[in-house]
Amino acid sequence: MNDILNETLNAPEVSSEEAAGITAEKATDGSENLLEVRDLTVEFHTDSGIVQAINGLTFSLKAGETVGLVGETGAGKTTTALAIMGLINCPPGFYKSGEIIYKGEDLMKIPESEYLKIRGREISMIFQDPMTALNPVMPVIDQISEVIKNHKHISAKEAREEAIEMLKVVRIPPERADEYPHQFSGGMRQRIVIAIALACNPNLLIADEPTTALDVTIQAQVLEMMCELKDNFNTSMIMITHDFGVVAETCDKVAIVYAGEVLESGTKRDIFKNPSHPYTVGLFGAIPNLNEDTEFLYQIEGLMPDPMDLPKGCPFAPRCSCAKDICHVEKPCVSRLPGEEHMVKCHKYTGSDENAEIVNEEWRDE
Ligand SMILES: Nc1ncnc2c1ncn2[C@@H]1O[C@H](COP(=O)(O)OP(=O)(O)OP(=O)(O)O)[C@@H](O)[C@H]1O
Ligand code: SF4
Ligand SMILES: [Mg+2]
Repeated sequence: MNDILNETLNAPEVSSEEAAGITAEKATDGSENLLEVRDLTVEFHTDSGIVQAINGLTFSLKAGETVGLVGETGAGKTTTALAIMGLINCPPGFYKSGEIIYKGEDLMKIPESEYLKIRGREISMIFQDPMTALNPVMPVIDQISEVIKNHKHISAKEAREEAIEMLKVVRIPPERADEYPHQFSGGMRQRIVIAIALACNPNLLIADEPTTALDVTIQAQVLEMMCELKDNFNTSMIMITHDFGVVAETCDKVAIVYAGEVLESGTKRDIFKNPSHPYTVGLFGAIPNLNEDTEFLYQIEGLMPDPMDLPKGCPFAPRCSCAKDICHVEKPCVSRLPGEEHMVKCHKYTGSDENAEIVNEEWRDE
């Protein structure tokens, strides 16, 4: 995984002409966004107070693309995924504002009966922990067939046949179909969860840290298999992770999530070659360099702000070594940087001029 990360970090620069070529190629594949999450705001009302979990989060992806949602624990990645799936329990969760536009339709406005047709069939999710995602008292084949039967309205026999095919796709021997989740290894369980998620050939797959619970060798195998299946089925994917190695291996675009907001987003090249938000720079700085002999590993000082008591200005201000007075009182707007679709939310950059990297006067000498 480290090799892939290093390769991505050291990849040669691409000229603007080449970059334009990439854009043109993509545009013929599917120029419209398959999913656009715009200004999403979600709160949880608890006995101790209001948890502001998602605060104006925005990102998009086109058909066939993979976007990585990267952020530390508590950033709001899973809540974003559950919001897209329409799985935020209300109460305690409340959608305060925003839109989740899927194929031109706002999912936040459709009735639950419509959601039932989309969830699992068009949009499906690989949950964070495979053991809790699987039913421990049901043979795995029944768990896969159930999804197929519910969405395709075919007989139990046909659904079982399709489920057996899915098991083969994820390289589980069909003769083990009637075994229970506890009889499989961690890697196999994760592959079964992937089989369930892909059973109805969804347009969009949300993978919530699909490999975090696995050891490194199995991680690589599962990721490789997911990418292969995604390409074969032409599925778009949201890859939730805190690992830039996983991003390097699987993603086209990246959104850096912090305190329920996207602080920086762009293509993988934009983010890996020109990380611009101080938080993103800090995250890259925290990746150990195998060629450097160092006594201590770098870390970003401090913790993510309490979502019940968010800072008034920039959410990263209490930890940012570049912070100025304005950062503590005013929220930064989104600025566009050179690159295909490179966006950053930081007072260092101002304006929204296309292809103009504008560094605010106050920071110019740093
Ligand atoms: N049901 C809930 N009730 C109250 N607070 C919640 C609830 N679900 C999530 N939160 C809070 O919302 C914030 C975002 O949580 P979320 O699980 O989305 O983070 P995450 O980025 O997925 O973190 P991790 O990397 O640990 O999985 C956290 O502060 C969390 O405590
Ligand atoms: S807005 Fe200010 S505090 Fe926030 S990341 Fe930028 S420089 Fe740092
Ligand atoms: Mg999570």
